[in-house]
Amino acid sequence: MKLPLRYALALPVAALLVAAGCYSSHRAAAAPGEPPLDPALVAQGKVIFRGDTFGDEAFWTDVLGMHQVIAAAVDPTTALSVGLKVDAEALPSAVVQGIQSGAISLTDPATTVALLKLNAVVGVKGTVESVNGKDTLTRVGITCALCHSTVDDSFAPGIGKRLDGWANRDLNPGAIIALSPALGAATKAVYASWGKGKYDPRFNLDGQNGPQVIPPAYGLLGVHSVTATGDGSDLAYWNRYVAVTQMGGQGSFSEPRTGVNVTNGTTDLVSAKLPALQAYQLSLAAPRPPAGSFDATAAARGRAVFEGPGKCAACHSGPTLTDANFRLHLPSEVVSEPEPAGVPSYASRSATKRYRTAPLAGLWQHAPYFHNGTAPTLGAVVETYDTRKGLGLTSAQKADLVEYLKSL
Ligand code: HEC
Ligand code: HEC
Repeated sequence: MKLPLRYALALPVAALLVAAGCYSSHRAAAAPGEPPLDPALVAQGKVIFRGDTFGDEAFWTDVLGMHQVIAAAVDPTTALSVGLKVDAEALPSAVVQGIQSGAISLTDPATTVALLKLNAVVGVKGTVESVNGKDTLTRVGITCALCHSTVDDSFAPGIGKRLDGWANRDLNPGAIIALSPALGAATKAVYASWGKGKYDPRFNLDGQNGPQVIPPAYGLLGVHSVTATGDGSDLAYWNRYVAVTQMGGQGSFSEPRTGVNVTNGTTDLVSAKLPALQAYQLSLAAPRPPAGSFDATAAARGRAVFEGPGKCAACHSGPTLTDANFRLHLPSEVVSEPEPAGVPSYASRSATKRYRTAPLAGLWQHAPYFHNGTAPTLGAVVETYDTRKGLGLTSAQKADLVEYLKSL
């Protein structure tokens, strides 16, 4: 019935039904009622998302000393092993040939410096200057793309075309930060404990340790409640938070609900960029599931389970399959709490103390699930709901529901 062809076939009907107010849980291709995005602003935002550090070199270079760590110890093989990605389109053909023939060493940190000079390491911005005739990394900073872009591996594992908005679930930000000589042993131990694909965007402020799965930055058009806890009503709110309090960018962020109040530097390199940065993220549609990756007939049955005995549509409703635009949920309603052993409630550390119903587009692409990554697969998500909510679904219904989730 719907599924891959539904935009072509079902959308006009769905739009009529939405207009008639009698069809609540269909996800539309373009969010109805959203103002159109300005293409010029989107284009500016892409450059910012990929390449702007907001002056955070003051943190990554002057405080953490990461330029020295990289130059001394991070050869490309090591960089790829902690999940850093290389943008193949930034590599000149001579470099491509050199990598293919083995003439360019992937076990020499000087090669990493050369890649940074080419602006080819996704999300890492280096300044390379000639010092005594030798290319030297003098400044390094990070961009949004570090965590929220990956590559398609078309050249080699970890090397390919950029996929903006796809969370980099191979990245181990904690392991990278823990390399800094500026940190004490106890702090390093916390960073080193997070693992791949996770980052705690509050640890440096509240001292609690509860890493979050890095979420996609796509599929958010029409969702006016951002982050797992719905702390902000637009992306710009959270983008300012991360740019200032996490990346170390130059500017200010203040939030009375959590008491966070941070100002870095004396010039604001963040505020003016937020409208474009937001427009770019809103332009990133969730990727469609690959052809043949789910059973369409089972998925159609699964949708009926989602809307019927699974009771999922009680919260996952509307065009983006979330009620986030009008309510948040107490931790007691949410199946992903209590947190895994010893981890404090993430909601308790947030501005809202609640969770946002997650939008579901592109689910096939971004396992593991829930804010804390406690469900490794969509099958585990469905089992968790069935057990925690006492749904009593049959194994056939659960299997169909999984096919439906894979189709979104
Ligand atoms: C070190 C990794 C890291 C960097 C760098 C980073 N983020 Fe994030 N981002 C995260 C994590 C982890 C979360 C989840 C936070 C939460 O839900 O409380 C997140 C959440 C988000 C969300 C919310 C998504 C949603 O579903 O509501 C958006 C949007 C986002 N980041 C955009 C950005 C932008 C733009 C930048 C650059 C200014 C950036 N991030 C930099 C790790 C990162
Ligand atoms: C009471 C409201 C509510 C109901 C009912 C509900 N959900 Fe959720 N759902 C949420 C919230 C809140 C989250 C975010 C939880 C988190 O991040 O830890 C979520 C997260 C998810 C996720 C993870 C998304 C991601 O990006 O990690 C999936 C998948 C999901 N729900 C599917 C379902 C299915 C299937 C059902 C029905 C069996 C269902 N939900 C019922 C509120 C609900």
